[in-house]
Amino acid sequence: MGKFISLTTAVPGPKSQAIAKRQSGVVASPMNDALSPAYIAEGHGALVTDVDGNTFIDLTGGWGCMAVGHSHPRVIAAIKDQVDHYVHTDFTSVPYEPYVTLAEKLVRLAPGDFEKTVALFNSGAEAIENAVKIARHVTGRSGVVVFDRAFHGRTLLTMTMTHKAKPYKAGFGPFAPDVYRMPFVTPYHPSIRVDEWERLLGTYVDPSTIACFVVEPIQGEGGFRVPSDGFLQMLREVSHKYGILLVVDEIQAGVGRTGKFFSIENWNIAPDIICSAKSLAAGMPLSAVIARKDLTDRLPGSSIGGTYVGNPVACRAAIEVLNIVEEEHLMDRALAIGGLIRSRWDAWKETYPIIGDVRGMGAMQALEFVKDRTTREPATVLNGQIIKDCLQHGVLVAGSGIYGNCIRMLVSLEVTDDQLNEALDVLESAVAKADAELRV
Ligand SMILES: Cc1ncc(COP(=O)(O)O)c(C=O)c1O
Repeated sequence: MGKFISLTTAVPGPKSQAIAKRQSGVVASPMNDALSPAYIAEGHGALVTDVDGNTFIDLTGGWGCMAVGHSHPRVIAAIKDQVDHYVHTDFTSVPYEPYVTLAEKLVRLAPGDFEKTVALFNSGAEAIENAVKIARHVTGRSGVVVFDRAFHGRTLLTMTMTHKAKPYKAGFGPFAPDVYRMPFVTPYHPSIRVDEWERLLGTYVDPSTIACFVVEPIQGEGGFRVPSDGFLQMLREVSHKYGILLVVDEIQAGVGRTGKFFSIENWNIAPDIICSAKSLAAGMPLSAVIARKDLTDRLPGSSIGGTYVGNPVACRAAIEVLNIVEEEHLMDRALAIGGLIRSRWDAWKETYPIIGDVRGMGAMQALEFVKDRTTREPATVLNGQIIKDCLQHGVLVAGSGIYGNCIRMLVSLEVTDDQLNEALDVLESAVAKADAELRV
């Protein structure tokens, strides 16, 4: 029990257990391994309350979708207002203003001193698929370069672009052709030097056949890996050199989480195409491809799209999200949240040898757990224990990393310092227990 956490039953409580029983017979089994065994009844800001009346502090933020928090009153009001008028037409059948208003806002926010356009879709994977379609069409090339430890989705093409075999790819082949994986150069997992990257690329594929590089400026599922100095600038230079388009996947890192609206702005780089989703519409299914206008002007009508893409209810939610991020200064708040987290996590690193690395930008911070700081052998099982321990004590926390040995912070930027400190107290006691176990 704390000021915010309130557990009145064991987790899961009897009502959650009863629903889980019903679920197991009728819901496809891949959906049956949720982080939380407790079913949500209410979500507000950084807190969720389950059907048994237990309240948790949610550091997962709907897997990175709730930068403005659960049920932000302005988002809810916009959704309700839109539902009172119309819910769906298909924008290419009967168009509507919220799509246009959102596009105007996104082109203003996107970096780059050139004209841009916006195409809206439903999911992150769909945005990536369409970014690649655009890049292939306008360059007349088919090659796509992606990175080790990347995650781009679970459709055929994006699953191919995603690194991790289990659970995302094993048994689901054959994969999409012409996708090449290159090192994502970071300080903690060194592979090659930034200045070797271009030479290595040429050993895998003729650069003149590549349509695009698709990169997460800070990798999400890969464990919040921040690239080494000069890496993203090098990609921009190499892409220019060979006429390759630079596509950035801002699906997890965007919408203010790193202290800039798009994380790529931290490096002053203007990509050719930006993909956004997750926190963009506070949980409504919406993604955006923001591209150079001279690129999308070359595509035939109806060559990209879909029945539900850019749904008006989702557009209204997204417009409100963008207003909230600006008017409530959530990018400054992301930096303050990051400062609070780092002041505690950097100190933990001195105390708990299980912590191999602390890294991130703004509120997007991660801990990597290792069995040994020299070998950096992943402490995967203990990471799982830490996550479970937190859950049992009222904190929902997300794992990540190719070896499942990282904790990542995806908390709402509306979290208060008191809430965050209470959650971090629970996390610290779980880390301390795991650390002690490692030393037995
Ligand atoms: C960086 C990144 N790209 C793409 C995706 C895929 O998005 P979606 O699950 O909405 O298809 C995700 C989802 O976690 C992501 O984190």
